[in-house]
Amino acid sequence: MINYTEKIPNNVDLGRDRVLQRALEHWQPAYLSWWYDMGPNESHNFEVYLRTAISVEPDGWAQFDYIKMPEYRWGIFLQPRDEKRQVNFGIHKGQPAWQDVPGEYRSILRRIIVTQGDTEPASVEQQKMLGLSCPSLYDLRNIFQVNVEEGRHLWAMVYLLHRYFGRDGREEAESLLARRSGDTDNPRILGAFNEPTPDWLAFYMFTFFTDRDGKFQLCALAESGFDPLARTCRFMLTEEAHHMFVGESGISRIIQRTCEVMKENKVDAPADVRALGVIDLQTIQRYLNFHYSVTLDLYGSDVSSNAANYYTSGLKGRFRETKLEDDHILREAMYPVSEVVGGKINTKQVPALTALNERLRDDYIEEIQAGVNRWQRVIDEAGIPFRLTLPHKGFHREIGNFTGHFISPTGEILTEEQWKAHEFEWLPSPKDYSYVQSLMSGRVAELGKFANWIAPPVKGVNGQPLDFEYVRFN
Ligand SMILES: [Fe+2]
Ligand SMILES: [Fe+2]
Repeated sequence: MINYTEKIPNNVDLGRDRVLQRALEHWQPAYLSWWYDMGPNESHNFEVYLRTAISVEPDGWAQFDYIKMPEYRWGIFLQPRDEKRQVNFGIHKGQPAWQDVPGEYRSILRRIIVTQGDTEPASVEQQKMLGLSCPSLYDLRNIFQVNVEEGRHLWAMVYLLHRYFGRDGREEAESLLARRSGDTDNPRILGAFNEPTPDWLAFYMFTFFTDRDGKFQLCALAESGFDPLARTCRFMLTEEAHHMFVGESGISRIIQRTCEVMKENKVDAPADVRALGVIDLQTIQRYLNFHYSVTLDLYGSDVSSNAANYYTSGLKGRFRETKLEDDHILREAMYPVSEVVGGKINTKQVPALTALNERLRDDYIEEIQAGVNRWQRVIDEAGIPFRLTLPHKGFHREIGNFTGHFISPTGEILTEEQWKAHEFEWLPSPKDYSYVQSLMSGRVAELGKFANWIAPPVKGVNGQPLDFEYVRFN
């Protein structure tokens, strides 16, 4: 059980390392001031029905209660150590897992941790304004839960930086609080984390698509030969599952509501659907295309010597590395990647070691497709002839082999002019954004009430009813 009377709750025996404890206690007020500035707008007096980790055991690690968010106890939790754990892939395969940073990998490892850490506060910044236009108290509570946990994920990465990287680590921890999502001078590191999240449709898409990228990155790092990183990521993954649930169920509820209204009123043209105050399926498809494509870029170049290095060094594994049955060195294995040659999309085989980004992206796409299929079922059950589809992998990409090509959602290579002529059939237009924004002008805060554009969830949080007071505004 975690002791919450400590200044920084933890299960890493922080009290035994005074220097580290002091360094983190010094970072804590800077973190809180970041939260006051960049955390959810106007939320500082709210009491929110939140879950807090009380132990890292799989059963019952969370406890629910009302908490004022600035008083949320952001702590440091690692999965317990397995003394027998080894490095499971790469050239060090079979050696005992590292409990300290191997000198030769120090700077790569720091980079990996900083890049992961940077995404956590970024998403809180992106979602800062959404509490003002929530569709219900249930949803407001959920976004706040996601936000405090992203804050905790930042703590998790900052702990590693402070504990294992000395002065450089402390400087990186400060920079993590200094960058800002979307800032021109000091932006967040990765593209998708500088895109605005202007409305709740974008928020649910983000938690479905982009938090799931987070899951896949964490899964790859949970295989790391650097044991403290692996143990940290394992615990973060238990929290991530809820974020993706919020996204998937959020979109599913929006689709459900749209379909209900379409059926009741026997309409299907987008303008008629909009006139009834719900979001047309075409707009949902365009948001999907946008979030999917910018998230695919997060996996990096299709062929990457960095990815090969991370793997060979034993720092970042594949999705479910230890469950895969091969040599875990990838000495001879090949893997297909796409490229655009002479106006055509070709597939070629490259050494699997260099294609690890592409492989992780493919694992991700498989899971995304399954989620989109579940959304499709909602439409099918309503008897509406509309198909939600994932666009081609090359659509709207800015990183990797498709960069600079104009590829339609169905995978045709177009000229820039042709592409531009269809851009707003495929991606949300300024008009789409302003329509969605117009639906979300104020907060729906009555107990048990939901905005017109979204269906209620199947059940409440932690067995509570839908009309439970999930947030007290005071
Ligand atoms: Fe996270
Ligand atoms: Fe997340």
